[in-house]
Amino acid sequence: MSTSAFIVPIDPKAPSSVVPNVDLAKLWATVPRGEKVDVGTTRIFYDTPATKITAASSLGDNFATKKGEAKRELVRKSVGSAVKALKALDGLKEVTVDASVDPHASAVAAHLALYKFSLKTSPPSPFNPNLKSPIPPKLEIKAIESSKEWDRGVTYAYSQNLARTLMELPANMMTPTATEFAGIENVEIFVRDEDWAASKGMNTFLSVTHGTNEPAKFLEIHYKGAPQRDAQPIAFVGKGITFDSGGISLKPGDGMKLMRGDMGGAATVVSATLAIAKLKLPVNLITVTPLTENLPGPSATKPGDIIYAMNGKSVEVDNTDAEGRLVLSDAIYYASTEYKPHTLIDVATLTGAMVIALGEIFTGVFSTSDELWKRLHAAGEQEFDRFWRMPLSEEFGPQIYSSNADLCNTGGRPGGSCTAALFLKAFAHGIEAEDGSNAETAMKWAHLDIAGTMDATRPTPYQENGMTGRPVRALIEYVRGLAN
Ligand code: BES
Ligand code: MN
Ligand code: ZN
Repeated sequence: MSTSAFIVPIDPKAPSSVVPNVDLAKLWATVPRGEKVDVGTTRIFYDTPATKITAASSLGDNFATKKGEAKRELVRKSVGSAVKALKALDGLKEVTVDASVDPHASAVAAHLALYKFSLKTSPPSPFNPNLKSPIPPKLEIKAIESSKEWDRGVTYAYSQNLARTLMELPANMMTPTATEFAGIENVEIFVRDEDWAASKGMNTFLSVTHGTNEPAKFLEIHYKGAPQRDAQPIAFVGKGITFDSGGISLKPGDGMKLMRGDMGGAATVVSATLAIAKLKLPVNLITVTPLTENLPGPSATKPGDIIYAMNGKSVEVDNTDAEGRLVLSDAIYYASTEYKPHTLIDVATLTGAMVIALGEIFTGVFSTSDELWKRLHAAGEQEFDRFWRMPLSEEFGPQIYSSNADLCNTGGRPGGSCTAALFLKAFAHGIEAEDGSNAETAMKWAHLDIAGTMDATRPTPYQENGMTGRPVRALIEYVRGLAN
């Protein structure tokens, strides 16, 4: 059995390759004529070239006519399908990819496709939190020709896979992320405790921690990569509920285990921050994530409790399961007032209604800024990590402004994702006024609801089922776009 293989994405109408000593046109001619070769159809040729394996994977019948986004996605599907086929082979150690068509997309697909989370003990799992020494990946993947684009793609996928792991790990096993940042330049990490949060008046955040014995943390990561060290930063805020039982408004048991991923916002902004720092993108970035469990312990917040948020507004907790907006409201207010970012993006597994609206295909984006929306949309298309714009409108206001407090944390079933977004808007300090009068100086804000895209129930050619780690790649790409 060979230990080494090549992956060659091929255009079935013009098969060729840079693999030395392999005549791909001749090999591909052995594939039966007239057969449709959909993208990802993979043929494995053993002992080709001698002692090795070549996996030729179709780019689809019409590859030559495709451009831009569509073309990139064909490359991802082709390379991902080949990795999927090869990782099933015993004894294979090393895969070399002909990435010449698109090195970035090839690297992303190869590394995402290789990933599979499991805590089964045989064979030993690299995800076991008790490991004494790390287990190397099953396959080592490299490109035939090295390039900056390939390396960048590896960093994108590595970060997305990190987010997938953080989201998959059950709520009793979360490993500290800080070690991932070891040795990375221009990064400072602060782990604040509950006393710190209390001194800041973060009462809506703290109201969620009352039902659990697990101490809450407020994580801050500061990355200073801008040429001017004091340049205005971008801010990321990520919802970090390490387990969401619903609290006193307890969720039904069916599928509750998915709520181990309710820290997906935190996992994705932290992982994207890691990539941005590794790639040394020339921006300043502040990433904050309120981290806590939402459990129904004896001191838990009760439906009807009214709490004063850090910005002084009174908030009625009508339903303790609408905890995401409670932890985010203080975090968004804190980040926007303390660091005065030019742009603030929060990412959250916020509402079940989002799953209903856009399923697992698109992340919903609510934004005060057309420009920010355009940039996010473009980044999402570039990486096929797609966004759909949702309405951020005061017309939904009566649904959340009509209780005994300034705001109520639920707004009923109609437009559930839209009322949640509007709730958060009350805490985004310095955003553009309705009449646009402060457009020049206003903070651009976008809220990304990833409740639907958090988890994939169907495999794709380059991602298995499970926690997705979206939108890590789109966030990195957005910041890279800003920097250029
Ligand atoms: N974490 C959930 C939202 C969620 C649901 C994420 C499904 C991923 C998949 C959130 O905290 C929640 O429970 N939201 C409630 C809000 C409601 C009580 C107003 C919801 O959407 O049902
Ligand atoms: Mn909840
Ligand atoms: Zn939640």
